[in-house]
Amino acid sequence: MNHPDDIWELPTKHIGRRVQVYKSLPSTNDTAAELPSGDGTVILAQEQTAGRGQFGRSWRSPSGHGVLISTVLVAPTEVQQSAVLTGWSAISVCETLQTFGIEHATIKWPNDVLVCNKKICGVLIERCRHTIAGIGINANQTTDDFAAAGLPDAISLRMLLGHTVCTNDVARRLIECLDREFDALLAGELAALQLRWQQRLGVVGQHVRVELHGDTVIVGSLLQLTFNSLVLTESSGSRRALRPEEVRQISLQPTL
Ligand code: BTN
Repeated sequence: MNHPDDIWELPTKHIGRRVQVYKSLPSTNDTAAELPSGDGTVILAQEQTAGRGQFGRSWRSPSGHGVLISTVLVAPTEVQQSAVLTGWSAISVCETLQTFGIEHATIKWPNDVLVCNKKICGVLIERCRHTIAGIGINANQTTDDFAAAGLPDAISLRMLLGHTVCTNDVARRLIECLDREFDALLAGELAALQLRWQQRLGVVGQHVRVELHGDTVIVGSLLQLTFNSLVLTESSGSRRALRPEEVRQISLQPTL
């Protein structure tokens, strides 16, 4: 395992009591996977050379551009589910953005946080001996950086705030939000987290297009969306219940 360039010991309860800080890593999720236990330790890097995203995509992040963290966790069974951990991560990111005055972040199923309909953050939950929650927030990229990377639908804190940000400051705020939200989850506040997640998703009651893994697409009205299930009414009138693991993407479908 690489040696950290710095170590922080934050006065948190569960997440980030130990933060291992690196100038550069291939992927913070890979380094987190090598940790001996899922004790809430956070791996933080200034740069990733082989960062991973969902569905085998890469997550490019030159030095100082992004906030790149991975947290190792052991959580109770009801909290271990990927949908819950993705929701916990995404809501913590929305709370972090709020500390910068950005109030209107939304969540795009399953793992993106958007501002002004553009992606500011992605979440990648992976499992090995323990569970790893990887989070990447766009911090200091410019519109030109995203255009050059072929990512016209991305946005950064710098673009929203009009000035560069200190990635360590953003990381620290994020870890504090993750810790507060995790503490609430352990205290049994799963339903409250789910409600805030549903509000930020904004798709319940809407006409949606649901892409399943494989090629199946279902179009209908979304009656219910929880951490455990999706219920749709198809145009034929029949009801369809799905598990989150079956669903690749949900998007709003304009009605004709
Ligand atoms: C996605 O949007 O597809 C998920 C992106 C997740 C990126 C983060 S950056 C920190 C952590 N380390 C990785 O290699 N990936 C995640």
